[in-house]
Amino acid sequence: MRRFSILKRNGLGDTTKRILSSCFDYLFDLKYGIDTFSWVDLDDLKIDGNKKKRAKMYQPTCTLPLRKLLKELNIPPGKVFVDLGCGKGIVLLVASEFCFKEARGIELSPVLCDIAIKNCSVYKEKTKAGIDFVIFRSDAGDYGLNDDEDVFYLFNPFDEYVLKQALNNITASLQRRNREVLIIYRNPVHASIIEKNGNFTKLMDFSSWGWDFMVFSNFRPARTTG
Ligand SMILES: C[S@@+](CC[C@H](N)C(=O)[O-])C[C@H]1O[C@@H](n2cnc3c(N)ncnc32)[C@H](O)[C@@H]1O
Repeated sequence: MRRFSILKRNGLGDTTKRILSSCFDYLFDLKYGIDTFSWVDLDDLKIDGNKKKRAKMYQPTCTLPLRKLLKELNIPPGKVFVDLGCGKGIVLLVASEFCFKEARGIELSPVLCDIAIKNCSVYKEKTKAGIDFVIFRSDAGDYGLNDDEDVFYLFNPFDEYVLKQALNNITASLQRRNREVLIIYRNPVHASIIEKNGNFTKLMDFSSWGWDFMVFSNFRPARTTG
């Protein structure tokens, strides 16, 4: 018992969970004949100099905790899901298990866009998922938001500068068409930027399988889940 609490205190409990959940994702790729699991270094993303300085490398979100969070959020059907910095598209594939109308991925790297398009097409063919996947090759900071987009996902894709641009774009879209939007932020290293923006309130901190997320909404008071 004492040994167990020492392990937990040292964070090894979380490490084990992360390894296990990653194994699951390796099998997910094998099952569907897709490629989302392997990391891609920034130098291999073919992103030009200035933008590269602001970008983070490709690392996929783990499917198990994301699925758990989306279940918990219980988002009404028919919404549009957007992954800002979608990488190889694994988050869009998980979103397709829920009742979203469309899953859009915005990705700066041409290499990853091509892989994401292929992954979405193979997955849709194999699962007959009833959702449209759309990949836009764009800088998330320059992406002119569509006013039908409701749920924004970020897995620590870029620095504070691009995050501020993305938040301004979301705010401008809300001014054109007011609606509830959610921002799901995994590994939220720049969460203070969202808090300082003033238009979004933190709905929850969420931890699962050793991975951390924060969820923000523009609606106050906080929406209830379940
Ligand atoms: C940590 S990965 C996350 C990938 C995916 N969202 C996921 O969770 O599986 C971050 C991704 O953001 C992309 N990225 C970095 N800067 C970007 C930008 N300014 N606009 C769009 N994508 C960007 C990277 O190329 C990379 O694929």
